[in-house]
Amino acid sequence: MNPHLRDVAIPNDWDRRGLPGWSYHSAALLELEKEYVFRNHWQIAGHVCDIPNAGDYLTMDVIGERALIVRGKDGVVRGFNNMCRHRGSRVVADSQGNCRNALVCPFHGWVYNLDGTLRGAARPRSFPDLDKTEFGLMPLDLEVWMGFIFIRFRNGGPQPSVAELLKPIEPEFAHYKAADMVPSWGIWTQKTSVNWKSVRDVDNEGYHVAMAHPALQDLYGATYFDEPFINGVSRSFATYNPHAGRRWSVRNYVKIAPEPTHLPDHLRKAWVYYGIFPNAVLSVMPESVQFYQEFPLSTGETLLRGAIYRYRDESREQAAARYLSFRIDRDTMSEDVQLSVWSNESMLSEAFEGFYLSDLEYGVRTHHDHLRKQIPVLGLETAPEEKDMWNLNDALRSRG
Ligand code: FES
Ligand SMILES: [Fe+2]
Repeated sequence: MNPHLRDVAIPNDWDRRGLPGWSYHSAALLELEKEYVFRNHWQIAGHVCDIPNAGDYLTMDVIGERALIVRGKDGVVRGFNNMCRHRGSRVVADSQGNCRNALVCPFHGWVYNLDGTLRGAARPRSFPDLDKTEFGLMPLDLEVWMGFIFIRFRNGGPQPSVAELLKPIEPEFAHYKAADMVPSWGIWTQKTSVNWKSVRDVDNEGYHVAMAHPALQDLYGATYFDEPFINGVSRSFATYNPHAGRRWSVRNYVKIAPEPTHLPDHLRKAWVYYGIFPNAVLSVMPESVQFYQEFPLSTGETLLRGAIYRYRDESREQAAARYLSFRIDRDTMSEDVQLSVWSNESMLSEAFEGFYLSDLEYGVRTHHDHLRKQIPVLGLETAPEEKDMWNLNDALRSRG
């Protein structure tokens, strides 16, 4: 079977330059990215199995916004701004936990029901005119897809529903039954000193695998290929070599990984990565499913976040394979972090003249094209004045 989902012809003649160097270090541009790319595009918050019981919650603090995802007594997973309607305190402080019957604001003690409605203010007689129906937690768009919880900080946005957006990968992804999975080691976060786009640029191409990732190259290097971003979704596919084994973790992985009979043939040895514009990847292996994503903390700092999920009834062999694939991934990630730092640093140099991308890096180009569509000022080779950035971008947007 052809392992390609979509056959994509790379044009003969394409602009091989990346985004302009200035855009990796501009604070004004970062504000545009938050506005037009992060707040209004779907973001993965976690998985329904991270909050299995009524009152379980998880929070996500990113791009100056605070999301609170909570499971109600009716079992429904809802998303809110983690922001008390009294004076804006966090309603819950921890990144994950259980709040039993209600959400009690730690500042003055306003109490919210698990469905976000206001149960009552503390010392209610001090608010003679308070209309409780007006002061529920502010809801976020939320959609669950194959168990993954997607939220959107701004209601509405340029993307369709998650189900529509991910339709091209749905038939393949469905084989993994991700909705029934359980957490492996919980949601992790890590900071790295680099612009978020540099992280994404490295992740959006497999051209560097042969040189930079000895373990991955050993595991599946020869079979790897990328399908670029089309309508917000990319796909990278590789199958591991059952005879690989120069590295300890790889040698043991291919030896231990059991034959995953629940998967169709073409996926039984596959590691597949689905990119979701602007900043996330869902990836599948025979023994696990994971997400990872990045959020800007500043122009030069990025928050990496993700989690791995496993089969509820996994065998010991599956568990061992999951652990070994995690080790391979962990090494790969630290190699990528270093490379993204070096590439990102160069954009502060006067000598930097832009990228010159290979056909094997066409995925980087298509991600940049998606960004340019939302933020047309990214098409300018020379940096605009920081103070003009917003207006200039607005003018270009209205021109379409
Ligand atoms: S800010 Fe929440 S009760 Fe005052
Ligand atoms: Fe990499």
